Amino acid sequence: MGALLKQSPQIFITERDFDWGDDQTAILAIVSRYFSDYNGNGFYPHPDEVLLQRELQTVSALQHLQRHLRHAGARGMAITGLGLAGQPEAQRNAVLYAIALSLGFPTSTDQRTRRVAWDIRARPGSAEQNRFVTFSERVGNADMHTDSSFYPMPEEQFLLYVVHAAQCGGGASLLIDVDDIHAELQRTEAGRATFALLSEAQVPFRVPSVYAASEEQVEIEMAPVFARLGETLTMRWRYDSILKGLAARPDLDTPSLRAALALLNEVIEQHAPRFCQHLPDDTLLWADNRRTLHGRATYTDPARHLIRIRIADTPNAERIGPSGVALD
Ligand SMILES: [Fe+2]
Repeated sequence: MGALLKQSPQIFITERDFDWGDDQTAILAIVSRYFSDYNGNGFYPHPDEVLLQRELQTVSALQHLQRHLRHAGARGMAITGLGLAGQPEAQRNAVLYAIALSLGFPTSTDQRTRRVAWDIRARPGSAEQNRFVTFSERVGNADMHTDSSFYPMPEEQFLLYVVHAAQCGGGASLLIDVDDIHAELQRTEAGRATFALLSEAQVPFRVPSVYAASEEQVEIEMAPVFARLGETLTMRWRYDSILKGLAARPDLDTPSLRAALALLNEVIEQHAPRFCQHLPDDTLLWADNRRTLHGRATYTDPARHLIRIRIADTPNAERIGPSGVALD
C-alpha cells in the first residue's frame, strides 16, 4: 500500500496501491460456483465456507489485502479507492463477501434473512420516528460501541464499505483505540478505580428486542467490560444496553457500578482521542471489534449508504449463540 497516514498509533488511512487485474473476475467465478443464489445480494454464511475461504485465499489481490489489513498491530485501516465504485450490487457485494471471507468468517446480521452484507442507510422517515430504530437504520449519530456486545461471542472484526458518503458535511466515521481509553482512565484515581471495577464486575448487557412483541422477554448477557487477551486489552461496550440491563436486574445496580459506567462513558464520548474521518465513496474500512470502539458523527443526508460485514475468527458452525443483529 502507499504511504500510511497515521491517525492514531494503530489506526491508519491509506490508498489502494495494487491492481486488481483479472482478480475480480476470478473472485466472481469462484463465488458463483459456490452460491447458486446470492440471497438478494446479501449472501449468507456458506455451509462450505472453510473450503471456499481456502480457494479465495489463492487470489493474489485478496492475499495482498489480507496481509495489509492484518499487518502487525493494526487495529483499524481505511483503504480509499478500493475499486468497486459504480459496479452492479451483485458484483460489488460478491467481492466484499470474498474480502470478508479471506479475513475470517462473515456472520449473518439478520436472523430471518441470514444476510451477511448489511445496508447501512436511513429508513425513510427515520428522522421523525421516535420508535425503536437502530443506529444503522436512521440518520443522526451513533454512540461509541463494540458490535454484538450483548452476545456470547462478539465478532472479532468488521468491514464497512462506503457506497455513498454523506454530502451534508456530517457522518464521519469514528474509531477509538481501547488502549487510549485505558491510558485516559489511568490519569486519575477515579479512572483507575473505574478500570479495576469494570475489569472485575460481570455487567448485564441487555439484548435489544428487535420486535415489539418480545418486549417483555428480557435476555441478558453477563460479561466484564474490560478483559485481557494475551498481551492486549479488549472491551465490550454499549452503554445503552448496559443501562437497560441494570434496569432489568436491579439487584446488580449499585451506586459504585453506576458511577464507574458513567465515568467511562464520559471518557469515551468526550475525552479519549479518536480517529475521525469523512470517508469518501469507494473506501473500505476494516476494524478490530475488540480493540477499538466505533461510532459515527451526526449527519442528515438520507442518501448516505454504507455496507457492513461482521467477521468472526471462528467458522460459523463452531460459534455459540446468535451471530449478530441488524442493530449497532
Ligand atoms: Fe456498530
